[in-house]
Amino acid sequence: MGVIVLKDNLAARVEGVNAARFSQADIELIRSTLLQFPVVVLPGQHLSEDEQIAFGSQFGELEGYQYASDDYNPDSNPAVLSVSNAAEGDTPVDALDRRRMLDMGNKLWHSDSSFRPVPAHLSMLYGVRVTREGGETQFADLRAGYDALDEDMKRLVEPMVAEHSIIHSREMLGFDDWNEEFKQKYGGWAAHDVVRTLPETGRKTLYLSAHASHIVGLPRAIGRMLLHELTEIATMPDKVYSHRWNTNDLVIWDNRCTVHRLRRYRAGSEVRTLRRVTTTAPEFPARDPATVSLPDWVLEQAA
Ligand code: OGA
Ligand code: MN
Repeated sequence: MGVIVLKDNLAARVEGVNAARFSQADIELIRSTLLQFPVVVLPGQHLSEDEQIAFGSQFGELEGYQYASDDYNPDSNPAVLSVSNAAEGDTPVDALDRRRMLDMGNKLWHSDSSFRPVPAHLSMLYGVRVTREGGETQFADLRAGYDALDEDMKRLVEPMVAEHSIIHSREMLGFDDWNEEFKQKYGGWAAHDVVRTLPETGRKTLYLSAHASHIVGLPRAIGRMLLHELTEIATMPDKVYSHRWNTNDLVIWDNRCTVHRLRRYRAGSEVRTLRRVTTTAPEFPARDPATVSLPDWVLEQAA
């Protein structure tokens, strides 16, 4: 077994683990590697849906996609999110198909499920069919993003709470044809601290996502601009790991301290199919925004 650094303190490849026949030592190795490298790549895996679920369950409770998956893969297990541009018959869906919405949203820097009352911890994305060109997934480290802020900025953002909604990120792209069931279940707001401390390491990190719309207690434009600025700082190219997919890669990332995005590929001519299983982060439940108050100096200095 070996841990090979792909990007300092951000991404590593772990070799010698078979996720379909894992041992507790494998799980512990991955868990501890994730504390230093929040993106871990396990190459050469051969995973059925059930095997991926069994592996993923070792790391925590799994999120359900019983509403989200309807549009994408109605036959799959509710613990599996199909990330795919394939239609029936293995050809790409056409340009106007609403199944393109997932990929489009994924092209914005985001943290998975930051809009849910209990957001995501680990996403585990498995490459079933990957593209010859493009379609990379990029990751940025929000702990390094926090460290990169100057002292004034650290003090300014410390008390801030952002409100997240999937409706916000999708409407920003111009989408408006909602699946009502999905909107009912996941269309609400989730409020999360902009700065968090990771329980296992005591390290501070930003928590950002395309789903974050504004800051509680600040005018929308001021809060939104600030979230843009923070995202820009945290995703400077030198802080980014870009994953070029091989078939059978399993990529695991910690959504509590990273953002990621999909890069362009020829979605009209190449099929790209990945399969995601995700654990929840019950240690970071959404907060009640009514209990949040910002000191006056924050408003003065935020714009
Ligand atoms: C995801 C995601 C990006 C990609 O599955 O959460 O953002 O590259 N995917 O498909
Ligand atoms: Mn994602």
